[in-house]
Amino acid sequence: MTNQHIGIGDLSIATTHYMIEHSTLAGHQGVDVGKYHHGLGQEAMSVPASDEDIVTLAATAAAPLLERHGTSTLRTVLLATETGVDQSKAAGLYLHPLLGLPHTTRIVELKQACYAATAGLQFAAGLIARDPTQQVLVIATDIARYDLGTPAEATQGAAAAAILVTADPGIAVLEPVTGVHSSHVMDFWRPNHRTTPVVDGKLSVTSYLDAAERAYADYLRRGGRDLDEFTAFCYHQPFTEMAYKAHRHLLGAHGRTTSQQETDSALTTSTHYNRTIGNSYTASLYLALASLLDHRCDLADQHVGMLSYGSGCVAEFFCATVVPGYRDLLRADAHDRAITARKPLSYEEYRALHEFHIPTDAGQHTMPEQTSGPFRLAAVDGHERIYETR
Ligand code: HMG
Repeated sequence: MTNQHIGIGDLSIATTHYMIEHSTLAGHQGVDVGKYHHGLGQEAMSVPASDEDIVTLAATAAAPLLERHGTSTLRTVLLATETGVDQSKAAGLYLHPLLGLPHTTRIVELKQACYAATAGLQFAAGLIARDPTQQVLVIATDIARYDLGTPAEATQGAAAAAILVTADPGIAVLEPVTGVHSSHVMDFWRPNHRTTPVVDGKLSVTSYLDAAERAYADYLRRGGRDLDEFTAFCYHQPFTEMAYKAHRHLLGAHGRTTSQQETDSALTTSTHYNRTIGNSYTASLYLALASLLDHRCDLADQHVGMLSYGSGCVAEFFCATVVPGYRDLLRADAHDRAITARKPLSYEEYRALHEFHIPTDAGQHTMPEQTSGPFRLAAVDGHERIYETR
């Protein structure tokens, strides 16, 4: 068994109960909606209900994988998030009663802004290279929440992606050659005392582009594929226009010119989910992959270029080679249902949810019953989060 036969065996995404249209947001902000629809490439964004959080999103994304594959070979759960609910306990442990995880499973939480899920995939591949009979569940789950009235407000969103990493995967092989770039940049961070990040938006865009170029250069130095070998690309999408900026930047840095038609063919199908869900931080890149796979039927044996970026910053470029028969494992209808079932919020309802915070005292606090999802945060009692399954 070599690393070349390790990759994505299954993939499922989940999002929130609520959403707000960018036209609603723009109308109340006095902003031309063209800035959001065309400048940022966003139509709507997912908004969590008061009884949803990264744990309920993670459980909702992961449940269909466990239903299909069982848990007998699951040995590790890596939950990646930058919306952690505890400084000590890994959020993945709350999934035990919700999903019936085996007690013979190691569970940890990973953090590095939007990049951590990609680290999770690489760590998973290492574990499976050592023992190909094991499977690893990687869950990316995040809520992107910015201060009201800031330029970043229109780039909020929330979602989770659950990825089963296996030997002889049914969806895509993760090729072992990858390119990495990391550096100390203060473009986006969230100190412990804040519920929203501190952002230097313009710096974050240039830092992303620079890191993408350097990660791909490292990938090439290590024997990676030429840009022409990829049929499609998935980029981390804080807003979908960022994928187009990154793609044009990468091609330009390598002396390529590209027509609008070629760019659309390489990128557009990877942006459908993020365009209506918004930024989902660690999950965003894997929503892009789900969107690409769910909407194209010609990807068997094709190479997909994957660019992961997390502020601060770490970027990684790698190749996912799609496996023949992948379409039999997809969940396009369920993904579509999760997105279309969201309840649109008025601007006032959105503001009220944005201002809602779980009380921080030791009392017993029951959460308003809002989500129609299969899992909910029912209460916080004596600082303990109590979840329930419907
Ligand atoms: P801004 O500065 O208000 O926007 O916020 P802008 O003035 O740059 O306009 C955006 C685009 O809309 C521009 O196009 C305008 O021309 C266009 P561009 O020059 O970029 O091609 N525009 C219009 N288009 C059509 N019709 C109109 C119109 N008006 C303007 N009427 C900013 C943009 C990204 C700064 C802000 O949204 C922000 O701060 N976002 C949060 C940070 C972010 O998303 N950064 C992205 C890279 S960092 C990253 O991806 C990591 C991250 O996910 C965090 C993590 O890793 O954990 C954020």
